[in-house]
Amino acid sequence: MKILVVCLGNICRSPLAEGILLHMAEKKKLDIVIDSAGTSDYHIDEAPDARTIANAKKHNIDLTPLRARQFKVEDFDEFDKVYVMDKSNLQNVLKLARNEKDKQKVDLFLNISHPNGNMEVPDPYFGGEAGFENVFRLVWNASEKLTDQF
Ligand code: 4NP
Repeated sequence: MKILVVCLGNICRSPLAEGILLHMAEKKKLDIVIDSAGTSDYHIDEAPDARTIANAKKHNIDLTPLRARQFKVEDFDEFDKVYVMDKSNLQNVLKLARNEKDKQKVDLFLNISHPNGNMEVPDPYFGGEAGFENVFRLVWNASEKLTDQF
């Protein structure tokens, strides 16, 4: 199983999801591939946001090796599932879908923990520290649900 998590910048929400999923996959000894990407080109090759790194570190998750990349259409071929963090990411990814098969791979990440809820992981970039902890909790809970499926 190959899973791609996607947000706007690939420096806050999706690298956190990648780090949490890798942490859980290792703990639960799962044979899954995880990667993350951003729909924008704003932060290509950058490490995750310092506030995201600090928040993850509090929970014993190291995001420092990760580097941002942009989502590309070939990701539809490479991955079985593409989970997006918010509805804007959803629109941007669906715009690149070439066919129905591509579209079927895409879903909101929080639909894992809240089926059909169509909830978003809020963008923490322009907010305070509480926003990062809120993102952590939302992403952690959905990641537990997802990794329990395998
Ligand atoms: P992310 O957060 O999509 O969770 O990585 C953001 C990072 C950067 C920007 C917006 C959101 N930005 O506008 O640069």
